[in-house]
Amino acid sequence: MSSAEIWHFNSAPETLYLKPFTFPKMKKLVFATNNQHKTDEIRAALENKYEVLNLEDIGCLVDIPETADTFEGNATLKSSYVVEHFNLDCFADDSGLEVEALNNEPGVYSARYSGSRDSLENIQMVLAKLDGNPNRKARFKTVISLMQDGKNHIFEGTIEGTIRTALSGSKGFGYDPVFQPNGYEITFAEMDMAEKNKISHRAIALKKMLAFLKG
Ligand code: IMP
Repeated sequence: MSSAEIWHFNSAPETLYLKPFTFPKMKKLVFATNNQHKTDEIRAALENKYEVLNLEDIGCLVDIPETADTFEGNATLKSSYVVEHFNLDCFADDSGLEVEALNNEPGVYSARYSGSRDSLENIQMVLAKLDGNPNRKARFKTVISLMQDGKNHIFEGTIEGTIRTALSGSKGFGYDPVFQPNGYEITFAEMDMAEKNKISHRAIALKKMLAFLKG
């Protein structure tokens, strides 16, 4: 570029000023969780694109009620609570186990199926109800509700598998020791965390939301 071209726009050099360059402010996005591990994972996936905050970051200390009878309903209750009370875009997830022979129970009651939060008691409840039943088909499901600019976007992830007759493995959490994903000979509780996180219901739903957010 010649110097003539440079000065072409500034016929009156005394009015020349430099506008300071500022990076556009990153959009804030709340993840309705108190789980720091989940927050860090999302933050890494969305860095440079969104400033991801969790419930603690925004000072939301309420245990948001999950009173709906579907995963989508509960995820939406959580995301809309944040929008309503904090006026920030937000996403929330809800997951659980659906067992075909139990009319898709425990479903939204997965965390307290036996009446307690104890995973072993919840697993024993499922095994007792399935006792002698040859239909062991089950799936884990995650639904994410993303409330952005006043719209609710839903993303779903499922992984199909079967319920073993006895527990196997010590990794993971919840129903992992009795859930064997299709195509594998091991349970989720015998699988490396990294491998489970690649194929899980949560990973599938999350991948769909990330693709949407990254445009
Ligand atoms: P949440 O909605 O992710 O908190 O999941 C609710 C409940 O579903 C948990 O407390 C577990 O009992 C069960 N659950 C959800 N995801 C998994 C999983 O990946 N493995 C085992 N259990 C799970």
